[in-house]
Amino acid sequence: MPKTDVIIIGSGIAALQLAYNLHQHLHVMIITKNQLTANNSYLAQGGIAAAISKDDHTQHHFLDTMIAGDWHGNEQAVTALVQEGKQAVERFIHAGAPFDITREGTYDLGIEGAHSKPRILHSGGDQTGRKITGFIMDAIAASSTIEWVQNEMVIDLMLNRSGNCIGVKTKNKQDQCKTYFASHVVLATGGAGGLFTRTSNHPSIVGDGIALAYRAGAHITDLEFFQFHPTILTVNGKTIGLISEAIRGAGAKLVNEDGEKIMTDIHPLQDLGPRHIVAYEIYKQLQSGRKIYLDISPITNFQDQFPSIAAMCLDNHIDIHKCRIPVTPGSHFMMGGIMVDKWGCTTKKGLYAIGEVACSGVHGANRLASNSLLEGLVYGNRLAALLLSTKKDTTLDFDPIEKNQSPLIQLPFTKEALQDTMMRHVGIIRNQNGLTKQLNWLNRFALTPFQAIDHKSRSDIETYFMWIHAVLMTESSLLRTESRGAHIRSDFPNKDQINWYKKRIMHNQENNR
Ligand code: SIN
Repeated sequence: MPKTDVIIIGSGIAALQLAYNLHQHLHVMIITKNQLTANNSYLAQGGIAAAISKDDHTQHHFLDTMIAGDWHGNEQAVTALVQEGKQAVERFIHAGAPFDITREGTYDLGIEGAHSKPRILHSGGDQTGRKITGFIMDAIAASSTIEWVQNEMVIDLMLNRSGNCIGVKTKNKQDQCKTYFASHVVLATGGAGGLFTRTSNHPSIVGDGIALAYRAGAHITDLEFFQFHPTILTVNGKTIGLISEAIRGAGAKLVNEDGEKIMTDIHPLQDLGPRHIVAYEIYKQLQSGRKIYLDISPITNFQDQFPSIAAMCLDNHIDIHKCRIPVTPGSHFMMGGIMVDKWGCTTKKGLYAIGEVACSGVHGANRLASNSLLEGLVYGNRLAALLLSTKKDTTLDFDPIEKNQSPLIQLPFTKEALQDTMMRHVGIIRNQNGLTKQLNWLNRFALTPFQAIDHKSRSDIETYFMWIHAVLMTESSLLRTESRGAHIRSDFPNKDQINWYKKRIMHNQENNR
């Protein structure tokens, strides 16, 4: 049976950085559901946060990250993120990463929401993700020790009798199944923005990683914390794509139809306040029937600074010379995920998780802007260090256990119905009533998370995985009876420091707290 050393599922920055670190020592297989560029890292506009300026310090970055995360973050993990992140970015710069520089020849550091200092490195204006993942890709594309498997969706993780993860089962676009075996299997599948109607995410990002890990028995945590980005370009009710916070960093203001600034009295940082606060304010204004725009008139050279956003506006008949871009909030980033230790190890032997799909505690209850590419770099480095220091287990049993599962029959709901109900009841603002309604809706279908799915189409499996993730997220959101970070409960509007400080809601563990 063909075996490889490491299977990496996904091709965002965490996956690529891991492969980059490993490929000279181990054989790596990268499996992606679609094309290599169909991921959120590639779409990232804003940049990478790192305290590289002489006016900045990693301690400031640490504090900003903890505050944005509403003190739910893990101090050790955040310290490692800002310190190792800074080093990783400096190494990246040294290797020639194409970050934008000013006329004076210094790095052009932007500022985004909840940052106390300008520290966002960007590339090609608003094309940071494309340029930076492209930079890593160029370094590894021709490697003879990396095997690229595109357009295959991982539909199951395979375990041996001892419970070790030993490989994956995939389905290609013709719905044919294949199996691949490896000593180490890494989930780097990204988040789950596609669980909601309005999202900044690539449409294929719907939470596969959580469903795969849950079905394999790994611990999952903090799923109630899901960030909604305040500004998604919305035209005729249809969401088109992200309008980077960097635009507000460059001076744009959120205004209503009458041109009144909406953030003035809401937060001391106004338009650059924490994302959940800005998103919630826009949401409230929209609910009261108003329309909200980004007024970009304070930005000179908009087209030069933000070329891909300008092009997106043009494609959608938004005249940027009129200086108003219509926006609504939409799902953006999953703070929770598969519980991992400081190296990226899950609670299942042989299974690892890095990047957005993992929950290492670096984001707490709400992620600080531009910390996600940074997380990808840091955990791509950390997991590589672990795997390179792990002695090869020549006795590993590669015989997968047969699962005795009842087959999944007809899915009694559509993907769109799931997205719509999630947006309504588990979206920007939640309460017991809506969450209970949603959980009852999800549970009224005769489904369990552990059904046989090999015979189903990729599209049905994706919807089924979304259902698994939706159930877990709704349960978590019901259980957390406080408002913290991105989890806003109208029936529990305050933080509960007594009962909930640092407490985590777990799945796949007996004790649910
Ligand atoms: C943005 O550019 O506004 C998004 C960046 C991020 O989510 O970190």
